[in-house]
Amino acid sequence: MALLRLENITKRFGGLVAVNDVSLEIEAGESIGIVGPNGSGKTTLYNVISGVYPPEQGRIFFEGKDITNLPAHRRAPMGIGRTFQIPRPFSSASVRENVAVGAMFGTLSGKVSVDECSEIAEHYIELVGLQAHKDKDSGTLTPVEKKLMEIARALAMKPKLLLMDEAMAGMHPRDIDDMVKFLKKIKEDEDITIVSMVEHIMRAVAGFAERVMVMYRGAKLIDAPTAKALSDPRVIDVYLGRPTGEGEDAEG
Ligand SMILES: Nc1ncnc2c1ncn2[C@@H]1O[C@H](COP(=O)(O)OP(=O)(O)O)[C@@H](O)[C@H]1O
Ligand SMILES: [Mg+2]
Repeated sequence: MALLRLENITKRFGGLVAVNDVSLEIEAGESIGIVGPNGSGKTTLYNVISGVYPPEQGRIFFEGKDITNLPAHRRAPMGIGRTFQIPRPFSSASVRENVAVGAMFGTLSGKVSVDECSEIAEHYIELVGLQAHKDKDSGTLTPVEKKLMEIARALAMKPKLLLMDEAMAGMHPRDIDDMVKFLKKIKEDEDITIVSMVEHIMRAVAGFAERVMVMYRGAKLIDAPTAKALSDPRVIDVYLGRPTGEGEDAEG
């Protein structure tokens, strides 16, 4: 049984088809990259998986259970964790409090005390290298530190499926290499069995993902082992802006 199964998902915003008939299966233990030009529907797909809004068409199964109509706060305790492309931390709360919120609403929800959530938060704050900042208001962090906090918060949810949305945007290449190593280690050490990432940074995708799904204009263009997907002529065309002339930048 797949950990996650999407069947023919379509999500529209008014007349715009943001996600167009996308089917995808992710097995436990897989590392998947989701790439595609800006506006191709990657974040919308994550929003549909995590329950931000329901799809107009299609069904979503998590560990075999139909979760299509479950709200986000019911999905997180099942094991769907995520980072947000644009982190919106509680700015006047400390880094530790922000990360503890992840523990409170993730798979440990209802099973751990506030103190235990704080301990879990400390653990992940240290793992991402923010221990020197743990008592600061999160509003004082740099954008990259906010991204690291966002990763710690998602990890503190102890998810089975971790959806990372451009979590490495803005990072130095050396830090990206470290983050890829860190994620691989986390997959081994923690109970987090799968990580799916949306990244524009090909260095991160190629270093991390075993399999890549490329989206283009809301639809699935290809789903293949990483090297095959990234060298596919259709993918190269899309990234070079042919045949549509669409541009590409670092923030998706
Ligand atoms: N909340 C929203 N309301 C209206 N349009 C949206 C909304 N979110 C995304 N879109 C549109 O849906 C399309 C896909 O966007 P998005 O999923 O953010 O793409 P990506 O993450 O691949 O850059 C874009 O055309 C975007 O403008
Ligand atoms: Mg996006």
